[in-house]
Amino acid sequence: MSEAIRITRAATKKPKPKDSELGFGTVFTDHMFLADFQEEKGWYDPRIEPYGPLTLDPATAVFHYAQAVFEGLKAFRGVDGRVRLFRPQKHIERLNRSARRMCISEMDPDFALRSLVELVGLERDWVPSSVGTSLYVRPTIIATEPFLGVRPAKSYLYFVILSPVGAYYPEGMNPVKILVMEKYVRAVEGGVGAAKTGGNYAASLLPAEEAHAAGFTQVLYLDGLHRRDVEEVGTMNIMFRLGDEVVTPPLGGTILAGVTRDSALTLMREWGLAISERQIGIDEVIAAARDGSLREAWGTGTAAVISPVGELAYRGERIVIHGGRIGELTQRLYQAIVDVQYARVPDTRGWTLEV
Ligand code: COI
Repeated sequence: MSEAIRITRAATKKPKPKDSELGFGTVFTDHMFLADFQEEKGWYDPRIEPYGPLTLDPATAVFHYAQAVFEGLKAFRGVDGRVRLFRPQKHIERLNRSARRMCISEMDPDFALRSLVELVGLERDWVPSSVGTSLYVRPTIIATEPFLGVRPAKSYLYFVILSPVGAYYPEGMNPVKILVMEKYVRAVEGGVGAAKTGGNYAASLLPAEEAHAAGFTQVLYLDGLHRRDVEEVGTMNIMFRLGDEVVTPPLGGTILAGVTRDSALTLMREWGLAISERQIGIDEVIAAARDGSLREAWGTGTAAVISPVGELAYRGERIVIHGGRIGELTQRLYQAIVDVQYARVPDTRGWTLEV
């Protein structure tokens, strides 16, 4: 879509929170980006408007059958004061893959990128600067047709909202306690596990609540068929350092193709580490913990970046990893990623896009 973006500025500006007060996803900026889709017109009317509620018919398809996709990426204020998006093209590619799975019309990647650059550019004063803070960018597409039949909607709304954020987990970079989940699964082969769609997150609430009640921060999901192979940890991808190898489950359709997962794998390959994207059974993890070859485990995701796993609980057994402390590779990865994000080192991989 090459249409000009209409801009309506907010009459008043909201007060901005202090960096030290930032949590995750509770404060939103002054403007949002919107565009509509209709079957006969394609995507049209791109616009930036004051942030505010949407008015939708109660019959709107998304409320009933959850035909929707979203993304989550971040803009950072570098040590040079400039604002950069981290790997926005990779997030747009995934948005379109998720859209295909949910029968939502794809977006022109150049247009989607322009929407992010224009909105973040307009809201640049909202990008916090302390380490660990950023502007979280949430592009979303929802089915807007008021219709209760079960078929792909004929109209959609694309919107982008922005939220200045701090740490995702209150623990920050402190190692988290994880419950290996056998009662519930996150995804099955042929399902929607690889799509970033709200239903996956709704389905994760009950397992997470049960884990919280038992004293854990999150759950480790196993495969839906055998409840044997490790899949994801909470909303993040999982990686294990086993002996001299780093192992992470493959992108076989049941797990999300994490952008931080890809960044971490790229860095570790550059560092000459042996990486194996393969299925790994929970039994192998437990055996490695027992014989001492499980050296580190961590989750990767945009929101928390790297989240060390300090403890796994499985069938009543508690497995402490690296003495419950942050491992050396976990720390190195975190540092290397945030160094690029805050432009403390030159971006040699084309991961950042200045706004
Ligand atoms: C992430 O960025 O790691 C997530 O998936 C969490 C997000 C849905 C809040």
